[in-house]
Amino acid sequence: MMSAVKKIAVLTSGGDSQGMNAAIRAVVRTALFNGLEVFGVQRGYQGLLNDDMRQMDLRSVGDIIQRGGTVLQSARCKEFTTPEGQQKGAEILRARGIDGLIVIGGDGSYQGANKLSKLGIKTMGLPGTIDNDISFTDYTIGFDTAVGVVVDAVNKLRDTMSSHERSSVVEVMGRHCGDIALFAGLASGAESILVPEVPFNLDDVAERMRHNFEAGKRHSIVLVAEGVGKGEDICNGIIERCPTVEPRVTVLGHIQRGGSPTPFDRILASRLGDFAVQQLMSGVSGKGCGIINGELVATDIDLVVNTKKEFNMELYELATRLSQ
Ligand code: ADP
Ligand code: F6P
Ligand code: MG
Repeated sequence: MMSAVKKIAVLTSGGDSQGMNAAIRAVVRTALFNGLEVFGVQRGYQGLLNDDMRQMDLRSVGDIIQRGGTVLQSARCKEFTTPEGQQKGAEILRARGIDGLIVIGGDGSYQGANKLSKLGIKTMGLPGTIDNDISFTDYTIGFDTAVGVVVDAVNKLRDTMSSHERSSVVEVMGRHCGDIALFAGLASGAESILVPEVPFNLDDVAERMRHNFEAGKRHSIVLVAEGVGKGEDICNGIIERCPTVEPRVTVLGHIQRGGSPTPFDRILASRLGDFAVQQLMSGVSGKGCGIINGELVATDIDLVVNTKKEFNMELYELATRLSQ
């Protein structure tokens, strides 16, 4: 097959996520398998502006599928948010004869990819973020692993909470998106899940805890998405309303972004990385890649960045019903 691109580059940007390495590996190996040249840009858009990139070969992505983090490293780059920065990035790619770019990152990184695409660079986005906040994909790369980290932590907290008949307020990541809290909450039987997408009343949360303890529960878990506010404030609010449930707060923080990716994330990353290269080769660009009902899809990146991901109320209600 004649390829629409000959030389491509790949970068990882924004908050890293488990499975980014598996995605890089898939991009590099699919490209090489099809006779393309492929460059790895170091440190996201910052590296692009510094023209910091190296040619990748088969071995450069060996032994990384199982590793968290990203061998290309990541960065947050202010300069790239300006039109001048974006123009400079496009010129650097053109000067190197690179005719396709794959950006692995979250919503912010997708905004940057959209800008490059509008400047005529054939760009594809891969959803790499633990937040699961990208529309037109059911899952982002890293989300499943991050949910696993939270569930594992809640299991541990439950042990000690039950012994002492206490409750736990656990703050989890997700800048504007409650999905980590929702999925981890459902999977770990959390009693309350506080997310930015659903209004809540702390009086009701505290009352529910008090009632459940009186009815014989030995512990209670409240998951708080960081988009709602600080777990510590929620914890203090519960202490004021109902000190007998003895809440303790745990902020899981960046451990949610580390560790070996789950098989789900590795497979998702491998499929999406391969798909993005195939799309570029067949002349498709300016798309965000995703998975919907198990099928790989490419959606106009402009539409992806301008559409807010829908919150799964069905799962939220299920979690609430099951955690009585
Ligand atoms: P994530 O991709 O994980 O959401 P950020 O929101 O920090 O992480 O975005 C990563 C980088 O993407 C930013 O540091 C910046 O360089 C670039 N970026 C973010 N928003 C824009 C924008 N509106 N236009 C161009 N580039 C952007
Ligand atoms: O977007 C990914 C994310 O991990 C968010 O969940 C979190 O709010 C943010 O990045 C943390 O950013 P930083 O790594 O700059 O502390
Ligand atoms: Mg983001």
